[in-house]
Amino acid sequence: MARLKPTFVCQACGAVTSRWAGKCEACGAWNAIVEEAAAAPLPGGASSTTARALGRGRVVVLEGLSGATDEAPRLVSGLGELDRVTGGGFVHGSALLLGGEPGIGKSTLLLQGSAALARAGHRVVYVSGEEAAAQVRLRAQRLGLADAPVALAAETNVEDILATLKDGPPPRLVIIDSIQTLWTSQVEAAPGTVTQVRAAAQAMIRYAKTTGACVILVGHVTKDGQIAGPRVVEHMVDAVLSFEGDSGRDFRILRAQKNRFGPTDEIGVFAMTGDGLEQVTNPSALFLGDREPDAPGAAVLAGLEGSRPILVEIQALVVPSTLGTPRRAVVGWDNARLAMVLAVLEARCGVRLGGHDVHLAVAGGLRIQEPAADLAVAAALVSSLTGAALPVDAVFFGEIGLTGAVRPVSHPGPRLREAARLGFKRGVLPAAAADAAQGTDVSIVAIPTLDVLVARLAARADAAHASRQGA
Ligand code: TYD
Ligand code: MG
Repeated sequence: MARLKPTFVCQACGAVTSRWAGKCEACGAWNAIVEEAAAAPLPGGASSTTARALGRGRVVVLEGLSGATDEAPRLVSGLGELDRVTGGGFVHGSALLLGGEPGIGKSTLLLQGSAALARAGHRVVYVSGEEAAAQVRLRAQRLGLADAPVALAAETNVEDILATLKDGPPPRLVIIDSIQTLWTSQVEAAPGTVTQVRAAAQAMIRYAKTTGACVILVGHVTKDGQIAGPRVVEHMVDAVLSFEGDSGRDFRILRAQKNRFGPTDEIGVFAMTGDGLEQVTNPSALFLGDREPDAPGAAVLAGLEGSRPILVEIQALVVPSTLGTPRRAVVGWDNARLAMVLAVLEARCGVRLGGHDVHLAVAGGLRIQEPAADLAVAAALVSSLTGAALPVDAVFFGEIGLTGAVRPVSHPGPRLREAARLGFKRGVLPAAAADAAQGTDVSIVAIPTLDVLVARLAARADAAHASRQGA
């Protein structure tokens, strides 16, 4: 057997090198390379180890694609916002990674989810490596979940955990909180290092695949991604969920980043309260909650997150810059996308923003990815520049092309129905999507190209200016 040579592993991306360096060649992280003993071969599937040791492989049975397959049965927690993101419940035999910054509420969410499943009669084992059993129990009491029959353990050794799981009745759901605290005696590296995290995750994932239990691994990630772990586990699991939110605010968003058994664009919205996480079934009302109707620079986007329309306010502030290179600051949207909208405004509509600082924020801390936000962003920018507020009862959506054309986006109907439900009366949208308004109370302002919108907003600003001077 070959001797185990020390290897150097980047704690940020998991790249392995033969010598130490200050900067990782693979991901560019500084001071992230740490010496670790090379991973010993992991304990393999029991039946095949002897054959492999002799250098022979085991013959596996090949199957066709059309064979009978049980439709992946799911564990439905009953927490609608959680089930929506997993694609309708946790899939048996799957491994899932829940990532998020420390303190965001991962343990709270999973404790509530486990309690709901345990109350429904499923066996749930919650293994806490971070908190003592008494701490978890105390939290459960505070959340009113103390009566739920969740089996609790405070343990960090993988072999002990697996032995415990195999000892009792087989669980349907196993929660490991967190993967960074786990260690296996199969590899010689400190807990929390990439080697340990990878080996521990592999053992737990193998457990899920062989027993049919669903395993959820909790992983901490920091803003700059410094801490080892989740990154290397992402490739190994069936689904990666991230729990986000900003610590100054109460609400949290659960998002699927990867999902082999469901969509990846759904989000679940929760609010952190004194009694744990509460589901937010009407997120539009939440995101529009503290709107100031007469403020210039604010446009309401009729957005879509997965299958669910969500209305959210886009806020822009455009001010003359004192800097040589004006500032472009974006929160909750894409920097490159803002640069594109600014360029189209300048090149196709004659709106000069080269001497202005531009700040753009999606209200409430939501992160938006869809290009349908372009039109709302453009409207907010022009409104801030002219100082005239946009109509309070209008929603905006549409993608802006480089030519200045406003292009249709998916599902205009549901967007407008959500807007109508919340009392909006006007929809400013691509001309090609105008038919979608049929059957709603929303009247349509069809915008074929961006300069049409800019001209309308300029006329509106002039009228407001004239009436202010007349008064
Ligand atoms: P926690 O679930 O421990 O976070 P994580 O596991 O992601 O590190 O949540 C910790 C935060 O949540 C902590 O700052 C307190 C807050 N919290 C509440 O506001 N209300 C509650 O009922 C609970 C249980 C926690
Ligand atoms: Mg925790």
